Amino acid sequence: MAEGDGVVSEMSWRAALADAERELAAAGVPSPRVDAELLAAHVLGVPRAQLTLLGAAEESDAAEFRALTARRATRVPLQYLLGTAPMGPVDVAVGPGVFVPRLETELLLEWGLRALTGVPKPLVVDLCTGSGALAAAVATSRPDADVYAVELDSDALAWARRNLGDRAHLVHGDVTDPGLLPELHGRVDLVLANPPYVPEGTPVPPEVADHDPHRAVFAGPDGLAVIRPLVVLAIRLLRPGGALAIEHDDTHGSTAPAVLRGHAELTDVVEHADLAGRPRFVTGARVAP
Ligand SMILES: C[S@@+](CC[C@H](N)C(=O)[O-])C[C@H]1O[C@@H](n2cnc3c(N)ncnc32)[C@H](O)[C@@H]1O
Repeated sequence: MAEGDGVVSEMSWRAALADAERELAAAGVPSPRVDAELLAAHVLGVPRAQLTLLGAAEESDAAEFRALTARRATRVPLQYLLGTAPMGPVDVAVGPGVFVPRLETELLLEWGLRALTGVPKPLVVDLCTGSGALAAAVATSRPDADVYAVELDSDALAWARRNLGDRAHLVHGDVTDPGLLPELHGRVDLVLANPPYVPEGTPVPPEVADHDPHRAVFAGPDGLAVIRPLVVLAIRLLRPGGALAIEHDDTHGSTAPAVLRGHAELTDVVEHADLAGRPRFVTGARVAP
């Protein structure tokens, strides 16, 4: 038994949570109460909703909670501390070296899954897969799909390998190379991409600046340095009628659709907003060659 195990501390969970919330708020964490509750639930291995039922904290749990709270107060991403991040039906493992999947990307996933309605055994490519979150979510939602996931960074690849196992073909490659995956050219039903898209120099929170890999976030002065060549690769991959969805920065509401409309091979280009009404992703379809 570790020191402190089973020893009931003086402190109730209610008080411990209030202390943690204050510490996180003082550190500028945007959602201090939610983060404190998620960390406590993680320590205890219970759903967050059960926290209201708790009384006194065992000293070992309270100590672990204080240590995690202190790390979160230094703006280590919450998901690195929890060890996972959700994407639709899956939780993927995340930690240092990989981009933390964001909730808004679930909109891109939902659109992509709808585009596959009625397509049997679809062939799907996730460009810039990072942790493998989108690929894992598609493979889980559509067990009949053949899923490819492409990533350039070797640290991210290690996380993707862990998350995808044999559920997807993981490819070490550069999505700015139009010749990538020649065996799939003209055959793919759906290309999904959440690439780096933040314009260089944009101020970002410490969680992003100090922990998300730079290459995962920033893409040249206008943020389109990866999206522009990625669209060329996507056009080569897609079959006629195949669908494309690309997440982008909220400053790209007109420029990202313009990139797609600049290619005669694409049609039905539509811009989509996130739940806050900000421009978030663009979709299109491959015309017949
Ligand atoms: C914004 S993250 C998205 C990760 C994942 N799709 C998600 O939604 O959580 C972008 C990812 O693209 C990768 N990446 C950046 N440039 C790339 C390139 N030229 N080719 C392939 N992957 C690239 C980064 O390493 C990073 O993992």
